[in-house]
Amino acid sequence: MGSSWISILILLLTYFTTPSLSAQDAYQILESNNFPKGLLPRDATLRSFDASSKKVNITLDEPCELKSQNMRFDRVITFVIKKDSLTKVEGIKEKVITPWYISIKNIVRNKDELQFTSGEFSLNSSVTRYEQIQQCD
Ligand SMILES: *[C@@H]1O[C@H](CO)[C@@H](O)[C@H](O)[C@H]1NC(C)=O
Ligand SMILES: *[C@@H]1O[C@H](CO)[C@@H](O)[C@H](O)[C@H]1NC(C)=O
Repeated sequence: MGSSWISILILLLTYFTTPSLSAQDAYQILESNNFPKGLLPRDATLRSFDASSKKVNITLDEPCELKSQNMRFDRVITFVIKKDSLTKVEGIKEKVITPWYISIKNIVRNKDELQFTSGEFSLNSSVTRYEQIQQCD
């Protein structure tokens, strides 16, 4: 009897500890679309990712600011992600023209730059600035 119980136990442990393939996190979704993971602050939780529409819903524990990146985030952040492009962005603000934070609508990667746009305003920033995931201030 001993060994069959051990087999069942091992099966159960394997079942509960093997991550499923769908368990992508918010940072992996950014990286698999050629965006640096530090575009989002630490503790961003992926709520949903629709594989066909590419809509992403991410939440933070609370709204926050990354002063070093001149960025502010709402508690809920949503966008549509494709390789090198985030569109229909909601919940991300950037200090495009000091001192104002403007809601970003699109973020496009052009080689080593990220281009943030909101209506007629745009700002280019080096991808290297977003390589590390940072804690909000
Ligand atoms: C995103 O997810 C949060 C938490 O589950 C939910 O409250 C919110 O309504 C969702 N927003 C959108 C636009 O799907
Ligand atoms: C940002 O880069 C894009 C592509 O290289 C360029 O078309 C655009 O004019 C630049 N914008 C600013 C504000 O420098």
